[in-house]
Amino acid sequence: MISKESVLKGLKTQVIGKKLFVFESIDSTNACAKTLAEAGTAEGTVVVADFQSAGRGRLGRAWLSEPGTNLLFSVVLRPTLKKESAAILTFYSAVFIARALETICGHSIECKWPNDILLNGKKCCGILLENSFVQDRFDFSVIGIGINVNQAVFPEDLANRATSLMKELQHKVDRTKLLQELLRAADTLLPSTRAGWAKEIMDDWNSHCSMFGKPVTISHGDDRISGTALRLDAEGGLVISTASGPSTFYAGDVTIVQ
Ligand code: BTN
Repeated sequence: MISKESVLKGLKTQVIGKKLFVFESIDSTNACAKTLAEAGTAEGTVVVADFQSAGRGRLGRAWLSEPGTNLLFSVVLRPTLKKESAAILTFYSAVFIARALETICGHSIECKWPNDILLNGKKCCGILLENSFVQDRFDFSVIGIGINVNQAVFPEDLANRATSLMKELQHKVDRTKLLQELLRAADTLLPSTRAGWAKEIMDDWNSHCSMFGKPVTISHGDDRISGTALRLDAEGGLVISTASGPSTFYAGDVTIVQ
């Protein structure tokens, strides 16, 4: 099991992880982090679990993870941003995760819109942001991160799309070291989020994304549209050019058509 003492040992962050909760089992680290945030916990509070009985994924899906093999954690932020800049937190999360994974794994990482992280073209990490606002300002944001670290086997329906660091690197990865690197990377990049649409974050995200200029299909609910991925708009929406003109999506699943 991940221990609080080993995570905190040598961790020299300013904000992220200053308050750390570690559970062997919990319903969802996002649910716990939300409860703590509603009760006023400080920015940078981190909740980690070895197992989640009700892990949440994007678009109302479940996030399943073998006990004791992966990283499941949530970070509480108290952004000074306006509601319309909320999308920057998605890109902030993807960039600090990509940086930390590249440091620990020594492999290039790809960011897939809106918030997946790929290794060798397969998903190794998902991000779920849950935001709370007071009028047009943030009260808090919970960034939930699930990384497949040492899981060897995936359900059949996911096997050709999902992977773990261990499967791709052919060796186990130390979860405590990886978590420390993630918290460090999150802490270093945090000041860049203060500027709203932050250039450092967006430039880095774009350099990790290979979709622009390529034919893609995007599906969201019953909608399924094909076109060419053009760019992101100012709110993080994906603009694609279609036969009937440009179309912008703010959620969905994108596939690059090979
Ligand atoms: C996705 O659907 O890709 C996002 C998955 C996010 C899963 C993580 S695991 C830790 C945190 N707690 C949750 O309940 N969900 C997120």
